[in-house]
Order: sequence, then C-alpha cells, then structure tokens
Amino acid sequence: MVETYSKNANHNMRRPVVKEEIVDFMRTKQAPNIGFLKELAEFAQEENIPVIPHETVAFFRLLLQSIQPKDILEIGTAIGFSALLMAENCPEARITTIDRNEEMIGLAKRNFAQFDERKQIQLLEGEAQDILPGLDDSSYDFVFMDSAKSKYIVFLPDVLKKLKKGGMIVIDDIFQGGDVALPIEEVRRGQRTIYRGLHKLFDATLQHPDLTASLVSISDGLLLIRKNVEEVDLLTDEN
Ligand SMILES: C[S@@+](CC[C@H](N)C(=O)[O-])C[C@H]1O[C@@H](n2cnc3c(N)ncnc32)[C@H](O)[C@@H]1O
Repeated sequence: MVETYSKNANHNMRRPVVKEEIVDFMRTKQAPNIGFLKELAEFAQEENIPVIPHETVAFFRLLLQSIQPKDILEIGTAIGFSALLMAENCPEARITTIDRNEEMIGLAKRNFAQFDERKQIQLLEGEAQDILPGLDDSSYDFVFMDSAKSKYIVFLPDVLKKLKKGGMIVIDDIFQGGDVALPIEEVRRGQRTIYRGLHKLFDATLQHPDLTASLVSISDGLLLIRKNVEEVDLLTDEN
C-alpha cells in the first residue's frame, strides 16, 4: 500500500474538462500500454498515484517519436512511469528526472533498475527549486513539468534557462478541473493559491512575444511552450 496518495489523491483527476464519454473514448480506443508500462499504469491506478492518464500517454508517444529530443528534463517522477514512457519513445535520449518524495523515489529507483534497459534515466532526489539552478544552462531540448501546480511559475525562469532555443516545455494539469476559467471568488479557498499560480503562469507565457504557447485540453489540460530565442525575459514578480 502506497501511503503518499491513498488519503490525499488529486481530486481534479476525477473532474474531466471535456465530456466524460470523450475521455472514456480516448482512453479505450487509443493503442494501449503494453509490457511494463501497462503494469506500472495499473499499479498507479490501484494505488491512486497520479501518473499521466492514457490520453496523455497517446499524445506523448506521437509528440516524442516525432521530435525525438536528445536531452529531457522532468520535474515530478513519482513511480517513474512518464520517465520510462519517454525513454521507450526516445531511445537515444538522456532523461533527468527530479522528485522529493522519499516513497516515490524508492518506487522509481526500483522501476528504473528493472525497466530502464538502456540506462537512459538519472533520478535527482530533492526539492526541484534547489536542484534546478545547478543544472547546465541551455542543455535540454524537452522539459516535462508535472509537480506542484502553484510552483510552475516559480520554476519557469530556471527551466527556461536550462532549455535550448527551439526546445519545448510541456506543463501538466493546468486547468484545475475547470476552476481556472472561473472568477477567483467561485474557487474553493483551499484551491486559490494554485489558481493564482496558474494564472501567473498563463499571464507570463500565453502571449509572450518570445514564446509560442498552446493550451491543449486533454487530461486536466496541458500547456505547451516553445522557446524561440536564446534568452527569455518573463517580466514576472517570480524573477
Ligand atoms: C503527478 S506526480 C508525477 C507523475 C509522473 N510524471 C508520471 O506521470 O509518471 C508529481 C510528483 O512530483 C513530485 N513533486 C511535487 N512538487 C515537487 C517539488 N517541488 N520538487 C520535487 N518534486 C516534486 C511529487 O513528489 C510527485 O511524486
């Protein structure tokens, strides 16, 4: 039994932002996970661990096979499901993934030892905010941010520094189960810090002249960002 998520699972995972029957359709019609990825997805579901859902898996397969990034950074490893999915679909990539939760780190290490056949994945243990500044600048061509939502805007300036020009960032779970489209007064008090963080993220990126950004309504929403120049000035309070 995994302790971390059993009591405290993300309730937005069960508030789809598109019609439920479309979510079911996407989850059942698209090519299934096979082998160890199937095993890990089932384990995550049984233990309430919030790994990327199947519609995001299908999207990642297509995206990653097409762009074939060589250096990938992930913030939020959990059990290593998405890192192993990225490794499967980018056999030549080096993947650095960060997590701070000891229980997740233990499970990820076990899974990487068993399933990371080409030894592509390096796990960095600790708080992303402490680890990010120490990574090499302009060294990644793809970043997947899948961690605490209110912190995306805090991590973004460092992440942009680590990303090569032309590289892409994918940020998961940005619709807050639809709350982001509401006025803040209609959002539950306990969710407002996340709401504010996500709105700062949208303000900083969606219309930035040096970024190309797109909101994609699968899962609880993805934000895709392309870095178009060597240095991006975000002009936010978080800098
Ligand atoms: C949604 S899960 C990641 C799921 C994984 N990407 C997948 O799809 O297989 C989020 C993970 O981010 C980690 N996390 C959240 N905030 C973090 C932070 N500030 N620094 C490091 N890890 C963090 C949590 O411990 C958790 O394991």
